[in-house]
Amino acid sequence: MRLFIAIELPVHYKKALGELRTAIPGARWVATEQIHLTLAFLGEVDEDTAGILTAGLAQIQANAFELSLTGTGCFPNRQRPRVVWIGVKPEPGLTSLATMVRETVLACGIPLEERPFSPHLTLARLKIPAARELGVFLDQQRQVDLKPFPVTEFTLFQSRLTPQGATHIPVKIFPLAKHDLIK
Ligand code: 2AM
Repeated sequence: MRLFIAIELPVHYKKALGELRTAIPGARWVATEQIHLTLAFLGEVDEDTAGILTAGLAQIQANAFELSLTGTGCFPNRQRPRVVWIGVKPEPGLTSLATMVRETVLACGIPLEERPFSPHLTLARLKIPAARELGVFLDQQRQVDLKPFPVTEFTLFQSRLTPQGATHIPVKIFPLAKHDLIK
């Protein structure tokens, strides 16, 4: 199974993000319903390990938190844009959840990329540079006008590769502890 762990976004949020699309030549936009915040990408995992992982993720005790967006950006950088994203504020609740998730994954013997966690929502992938149109998009969306929303769970997803692209299937949802600030 090809697995990743992510935060699912509310439907209205995904819809609003999908509406930001503009005409950037060569851009492959992420299907609106698939926009998500990746906490960890695991790749291929055998069924036994996936079982151990699921049990480990269920042990995580983390608090619910508010997720807010920051500006737009590109990976690896604006000069060589391959991935166009909206940034997510690295607030302590999110960072600590990502750390717990990644430690759990590593404890199951599943290797992870060593790049530090850089929270973002991928909107599009670019095969060819389209500097002018991309620059316009990035500048227009510098301030994304979406209110923060409460994150009360995270999800283990299976990614199935099909000729039409990847489909994301939720395997298991893990609740976060709600508290006074987040009901
Ligand atoms: P990103 O879009 O948040 O950058 C599911 O495939 C998710 O896992 C992707 O949306 C991508 O996150 C992330 N991911 C990280 N490394 C990946 C890789 N090598 N192959 C596919 N997805 C990867």
